[in-house]
Amino acid sequence: MKDKSANPSTDTFTLTDNRSGKSYELPILKGTLGPDVIDIRKLYAETKCFTYDPGFTSTGSCESKITFIDGEKGILLYRGYPIDVLAEQSDFMEVCYLLLYGELPTPGQKKKFEKDITYHTMLHEQLIYFFRGFRRDTHPMAVMCGVTGALSAFYHDSTDITDPHHRMVASYRLIAKMPTIAAMAYKFSIGQPFMYPRNELGYAENFLYMMFGNPCEEYKVNPVQAKALDRILILHADHEQNASTSTVRLAGSSGANPFACIAAGIASLWGPAHGGANEAVLKMLTEIGDKKNIPEFIKRAKDKKDPFRLMGFGHRVYKNFDPRARVLEKTCHEVLDELGIEDEPLLDIAVELERIALEDEYFISKKLYPNVDFYSGIIFKAMGIPTSLFTVLFAVARTVGWVAQWNEMIEDPTQKIGRPRQLFTGAVERKYTPLHTRK
Ligand code: SDX
Repeated sequence: MKDKSANPSTDTFTLTDNRSGKSYELPILKGTLGPDVIDIRKLYAETKCFTYDPGFTSTGSCESKITFIDGEKGILLYRGYPIDVLAEQSDFMEVCYLLLYGELPTPGQKKKFEKDITYHTMLHEQLIYFFRGFRRDTHPMAVMCGVTGALSAFYHDSTDITDPHHRMVASYRLIAKMPTIAAMAYKFSIGQPFMYPRNELGYAENFLYMMFGNPCEEYKVNPVQAKALDRILILHADHEQNASTSTVRLAGSSGANPFACIAAGIASLWGPAHGGANEAVLKMLTEIGDKKNIPEFIKRAKDKKDPFRLMGFGHRVYKNFDPRARVLEKTCHEVLDELGIEDEPLLDIAVELERIALEDEYFISKKLYPNVDFYSGIIFKAMGIPTSLFTVLFAVARTVGWVAQWNEMIEDPTQKIGRPRQLFTGAVERKYTPLHTRK
């Protein structure tokens, strides 16, 4: 399908300044899906006013063709394909190709893409020494930030952002090496030797092999776990202009190299309000400990004086079920069944917590539903992945979304450095008083 850019419609939005009585006609741009946008690029020049939207609740930062979300209807499309269909029928490598190139690959394209990614999974051998600089008990997200940023010190042959070949190689290197770095962060934390990636293994399978294999014996990856992980990677791959993707775009808008930009995205994802929520959900469910304690936590989540929030609940865009949460809930039950885990108290608590919250007026009125982070941690735990690695896995999955959005930004002919303005409420100009005169 030929991509259509934003249609410069003839419709306009009239803005009237009641201080001067002057009116301004602002163009309305229409996309292929979603709300129209008011083009305010000339607003300051014409009105000498800025808009004000901390948190960007009503602000479009860019034009994109990659991912579409309808928060009211709980719809998520990657390049037009519904997330539940991709989760069911596709695999992560195919979704990576789709997000990067905009179309599903042919069998030949997919085979070549998988091979190209596979042959970038190894790290420069000298990067191993970076891990030794960390404490063993370092949070693995600190390792991900540090080592990913350090990649720019090793891969100078793919940092020229004006060269499409450099951009493609850097994108492939980032997608390919993230699982290797993640598994090495885990091995380092438990004092086990690093495992080199195996070229005969698939992407998710290779990650589990590097995580749980050891040099002393053969390690066979459980296909149930590999399939579940592959599906989880698909669900986390991209999500339009979320905080970490916006961080990558803003960092990239200055011309910074892709490794540094993705390291910035990892840093942003780490926060508990964003990708760090999956780890926070497990901690919350463990703290709840028993279904009988749920009402007390619901009460705390509703108490404005209590900073506690129901982790894994709520979303800036989804005011309906997060479609990823639905797939993850289903996957959670499947994985536990297939792994023969009959009794998972945390899942029982999660299901009961969701039931109670969704019947509670507070959550209903504020349209707070489970989001992508609510069930993922329970699946990771069933697969033997430590809680501290949950957000790392989110970063592994989201790397393809970050690089796809970064490429789209670099290739956008209208792209310029991101430089927001502000509403200044600080001190007006005043006279400096020499130190000896101050009391
Ligand atoms: C991700 O942007 C993305 O797309 C992100 C993501 C992706 O794929 O990239 O989807 C991944 O980050 C998912 C979200 C993971 N975070 C959590 O689960 C943390 C818990 N959720 C909240 O912190 C919150 O819901 C946010 C951060 C997710 C969204 O916050 P918003 O959009 O700024 O909403 P808000 O804080 O203005 O909340 C609106 C109201 C507030 O009450 P009022 O001030 O209007 O009275 O709802 C309340 C909030 O207090 N509220 C909650 C709540 N989330 C919102 N109250 C209790 N528990 C919660 N979880």
